[in-house]
Amino acid sequence: MDYIKLRKNNLCVENISALSLTKKYKTPFYCYSLSQLKSNFDNFSNSFKSAKPLVCFSVKCNSNLSILKELKKMGSGADVVSAGELLKALRAGINPKKIVFSGVGKTVEEIELAIKKRVLLINMESENEAILINKVSGKMSKTTSVGIRLNPNVTGKTNKKISTGSKEDKFGLNKNDFTILCKKITKMKNLKLEGISVHIGSQITSTKPFKKVLNVINKLINKTKINFKFIDLGGGMGISYSNKEKELNLSQYAEFVKKFIKNKKAKIIFEPGRFIAANTSILISKIIYIKKSNNKNYIILDAGMNDLMRPALYNAHHKIIPLKKNSRSIIGNIEFVGPICESSDKFLSQRNFSKVREGDYVAITNVGAYGISLASNYNTRPIVAEILVNGSKHKLIKKRQSLESLINN
Ligand code: LLP
Repeated sequence: MDYIKLRKNNLCVENISALSLTKKYKTPFYCYSLSQLKSNFDNFSNSFKSAKPLVCFSVKCNSNLSILKELKKMGSGADVVSAGELLKALRAGINPKKIVFSGVGKTVEEIELAIKKRVLLINMESENEAILINKVSGKMSKTTSVGIRLNPNVTGKTNKKISTGSKEDKFGLNKNDFTILCKKITKMKNLKLEGISVHIGSQITSTKPFKKVLNVINKLINKTKINFKFIDLGGGMGISYSNKEKELNLSQYAEFVKKFIKNKKAKIIFEPGRFIAANTSILISKIIYIKKSNNKNYIILDAGMNDLMRPALYNAHHKIIPLKKNSRSIIGNIEFVGPICESSDKFLSQRNFSKVREGDYVAITNVGAYGISLASNYNTRPIVAEILVNGSKHKLIKKRQSLESLINN
């Protein structure tokens, strides 16, 4: 079910016309659909229901407190990578026993906090991190449950910048080092080795790499003969951003996982981010100018790369739709750009678009994951507001940053 769509040429978020929201909130702003969020979470959980996994939403993709609170109500845990994310997940009411702490560079303070808050698992990525966690645990007179992140040397056929599973990447330990660390941990008396974790990258739309990873883990478990309590399969499940990109066949992935856990007692953990949040939001923006130059029509928006980094950073495709579709079209080279002083401040190029004028509004779609969480104050622009729609109701879930707070230091 799609909760953000054109109805009679008007873009609607659930039962509300997006245009009516522009009368109440200053553009640009992010607008989410709660029903879409629920539907995605249920779809994910139901697909894997035979494995009964613990679903830990990856907070880095969207850390809005109201969104986290809603996910908590749905039963979600959290995958966090910093003190800030951990505290936010706890503030949202997520049980620490549903929180995994990941990341390649945890500081002493972050380790202390994770131990103090009694998270389920700290996923470690190096021997030196294990030594440090053992030492900190000892000082705090605690035994800490840890997992080790495996680098399976499997790539997910995704953008290189968001690929993490190859041996060239900084993440995890290769099979050999993993096995050595497992042995060494038995001598670290303040650590309890309970987990193996992997995460090979993001926006993966083929099930093949996931299958390969399961095979690598299987072999490693047979070799080490460790009965891990938790097998954390990470996130990475992709969505279809454009008509060219296919959807991930989640039920096929679920079949692989079902076979994989047969005869294993381990609890499966997933850390999905994008799959749960991406299509829950649009970035609503106003057309400030339309400029014809050479043979291009530049549609200059009030949203810029500081509000949505993905196109500039990864060449990511985010479809743009008008809030009110016109029966006539503009035909030619059309480029949607922002106001930032960089040529990379460009969202999309295409050959035709519904006829629009200055002052009209458009929506940049599928921005619920790594949208606002990557936003910055570049060009001394405030972080924009976030709105949540639920049926026929809408509410502000994060205020637009004030200019005043920006100019004080
Ligand atoms: N677990 C770990 C350890 C991760 O590093 C990540 C994402 C996830 C889970 C969640 O992955 P997801 O299910 O969302 O693919 N900024 C980039 C994506 C970076 C992903 C970083 N790690 C983008 O906008 O595409």
